[in-house]
Amino acid sequence: MRVIETVSEMHAARVNMAGPVAVVPTLGGLHAGHEALMHAARARAGSVIATLFLNPTQFGQNEDLAEYPADRERDLEVMRNAGVDIVFAPPVDEMYPEGDTFVVEPGPIGAVLEGEDRPGHMRAVATVVAKLFNATRPDLAYFGEKDAQQLEVVRRMSRDLRFGIEVVPVPTVRDERNLALSSRHSYLTEPERSAAEVVYASLCAARDLWDGGQRSAPELESAIRDVIASERLATLCYAVVVDPETFEPHKEPGAVSHALALIAVTIGSTRLIDNLRLG
Ligand code: PAJ
Repeated sequence: MRVIETVSEMHAARVNMAGPVAVVPTLGGLHAGHEALMHAARARAGSVIATLFLNPTQFGQNEDLAEYPADRERDLEVMRNAGVDIVFAPPVDEMYPEGDTFVVEPGPIGAVLEGEDRPGHMRAVATVVAKLFNATRPDLAYFGEKDAQQLEVVRRMSRDLRFGIEVVPVPTVRDERNLALSSRHSYLTEPERSAAEVVYASLCAARDLWDGGQRSAPELESAIRDVIASERLATLCYAVVVDPETFEPHKEPGAVSHALALIAVTIGSTRLIDNLRLG
């Protein structure tokens, strides 16, 4: 496994890589969710590039950039064990050179949910992913369903800007308590970890209603809210049931065959997101 820190070296290495070339972008702080992406890439691609870049622009002023649980040596070890060929791990000024002004604006899909709670977040993600794509020039790009809105933003960016990169979704990896794995779990105390079980349980409440024939988004959302309200340590940021293609409410809810329930919750001071497909 080779570690590359500059775009010019990455481009030079890319020329001789066996295709199809897959990229797995990460912030570091790796866990089994990231490993699932790397394994899926390894199973299909001729070469696998993983990126390790704690992108400062996607963190808000009062967010956790400074304490983000990245451990470079450990992360490189995880990547090596997952069969990664090249790690692209640039320093910040390699990705944001002085005088850099261009951004990728996702439009309406970047303005709701995560984009509303974390202003500028989706634009920052789209912009850094575009830069990582241009640095690594992949054929395939692996993203987790855990970050469903991010996945859709990247999928549309690739389509609308004609990147010609196939964005491959990977199912959410959960722990034994059904908590969707997240680098931010390291912030949780044991009581908070138990409390966090309410996140998946609330989504299951919506799914149970859906399976029983309920198609009203307000009813499904209220079921999610009720479960969250039962946990003292949990504060709801949003709970919505949307059309998975647009992230807008379904126009004719009676006829729909599928929907996506999405939730963001803070447990103590840790913000967690999760989602579940209905139908
Ligand atoms: P990060 O949070 O490190 O996640 C990297 C990738 O791992 C994302 O595609 C994310 O959806 C996926 N992932 C995280 N937890 C997962 C889980 N429990 N199961 C399956 N996949 C999971 O997302 C980012 O980094 C950044 O925004 C990035 C795309 C790298 C841009 O900076």
